[in-house]
Amino acid sequence: MAAHSITAKHFDLEAIQSADVTSTYALFQQTHRNPWSLESFSETLSTSHCLVAKKEGLVKGFVLFSVMFEQAEVLYICVEESSRRSGLAALLMKEAIALMKADTVTSLLLEVAEDNDSARSFYQKMHFHVIDVRKNYYHHADGGKSNALVMQRDL
Ligand SMILES: CC(C)(COP(=O)(O)OP(=O)(O)OC[C@H]1O[C@@H](n2cnc3c(N)ncnc32)[C@H](O)[C@@H]1OP(=O)(O)O)[C@@H](O)C(=O)NCCC(=O)NCCS
Repeated sequence: MAAHSITAKHFDLEAIQSADVTSTYALFQQTHRNPWSLESFSETLSTSHCLVAKKEGLVKGFVLFSVMFEQAEVLYICVEESSRRSGLAALLMKEAIALMKADTVTSLLLEVAEDNDSARSFYQKMHFHVIDVRKNYYHHADGGKSNALVMQRDL
């Protein structure tokens, strides 16, 4: 997938660079309920695509996705808490989708915890719909479990 950089809504969107990994992982840890280790995160970066949104050089959000022929999967998307509800995740998702379409992807999948209300609302707004439910799929650090919803949209 080609290198990409745009500026919109005062954010610079670009493919992650090695200098961004530490701050991107820090944001991942702040926003994910059960964050993977830095090693797993770095390994995932090496086999997938990551678009970061920066403001004044600081990473404020990112989307991580993988592409397998005509199908792509959103592995994670997040926005720093103080930058939420300003359309940044929507901007990241739209840019990721533009890159996927240019790569001839026709279907986009993701998994989300059933009790993650903000993410579910966001994905519904982004035209995803539920195609499957995986019971007790997520095991949380506090011992709790959540169902995973598998969501899909055509591109
Ligand atoms: C989900 C998340 C990425 C949304 O980021 P965001 O930048 O605030 O989202 P946007 O501002 O682009 O929202 C676009 C639309 O999604 C919906 N939405 C987003 N957050 C919402 C919330 N907390 N409650 C209800 N709807 C919400 C709204 O329809 C919103 O449009 P509106 O603001 O005009 O009403 C953000 O809350 C986040 O980082 N959460 C923690 C990480 C996470 O759970 N990621 C998903 C992993 S599966």
